[in-house]
Amino acid sequence: MSVPSLTMSTEVPTAGVEISNISKSFGNHLVLDDISMAVTPGSVTALIGPSGSGKSTLLRCVNLLEKPDRGTITVGSQTIEAGSRVSDRDLLALRRQVGMVFQSFNLFPHFTVLRNIAFPQERILGRSREEAEERAMVLLDRVGLREKAGQHPGRCSGGQQQRIAIARALALDPRAMLFDEPTSALDPEVGVEVIAVMRELAETGMTMIVVTHEMQFAREVGDHLVVMADGHIIEEGIPAAVMADPREERTRRFLSAVLDR
Ligand SMILES: Nc1ncnc2c1ncn2[C@@H]1O[C@H](COP(=O)(O)OP(=O)(O)O)[C@@H](O)[C@H]1O
Ligand SMILES: [Mg+2]
Repeated sequence: MSVPSLTMSTEVPTAGVEISNISKSFGNHLVLDDISMAVTPGSVTALIGPSGSGKSTLLRCVNLLEKPDRGTITVGSQTIEAGSRVSDRDLLALRRQVGMVFQSFNLFPHFTVLRNIAFPQERILGRSREEAEERAMVLLDRVGLREKAGQHPGRCSGGQQQRIAIARALALDPRAMLFDEPTSALDPEVGVEVIAVMRELAETGMTMIVVTHEMQFAREVGDHLVVMADGHIIEEGIPAAVMADPREERTRRFLSAVLDR
């Protein structure tokens, strides 16, 4: 099934993400067991669940950093089916549509902030240096770090580095963004800067899947909340509703653990 894309005025049109019947094992450990989830264009899905439940593996399957054993992933009008022969070209085309931000920012330490954002555009999209750096400055402005352009990442705080990583992902014009615990490695006071950038991004209509323990973000920004445990979706719904009255005991336990922190 293809998911329609929603056209926005100035940017690349955002796209829906459809995860259908995805299963994944490592050896004989079934880590994802028949997961299906539809993320409509421009919506934000928050993904929560205990450590080891398969959240990171699921995100990695969506942009094909990990190969699912079964199922299909659709981004916009492009579908990749597990098990079928996928050309490198199709794989790269899908991966390019989906930006990913990790807990660890993985910036190049020997490049300036500007080069960190421009270089992937030159390599992956074939943009000229001038064009890539121009786009990088627009995005640095957007994440509030224009003045950091000429510095090296080591001179930036963790929260600033994560905002640079978000700008770097956005510079490749993704149609959807995946975030894997983007604030977990950060002190709370700089985590809020990152949350603010993600909130603004959601307001522009970007399709987002966000693994997070930030329950306030999930409730206020999330359109949908998915709870995973042991490779299954155990519960999902409108974030405020699930949080106020979880149906599953395991959801209840997880929520009280994260809300108590
Ligand atoms: N590359 C891998 N090889 C073997 N096991 C893995 C690999 N990646 C993840 N796992 C296992 O898969 C399970 C789910 O991991 P993960 O997706 O990282 O969960 P979460 O992000 O919810 O904490 C864990 O038991 C983990 O040990
Ligand atoms: Mg994880």
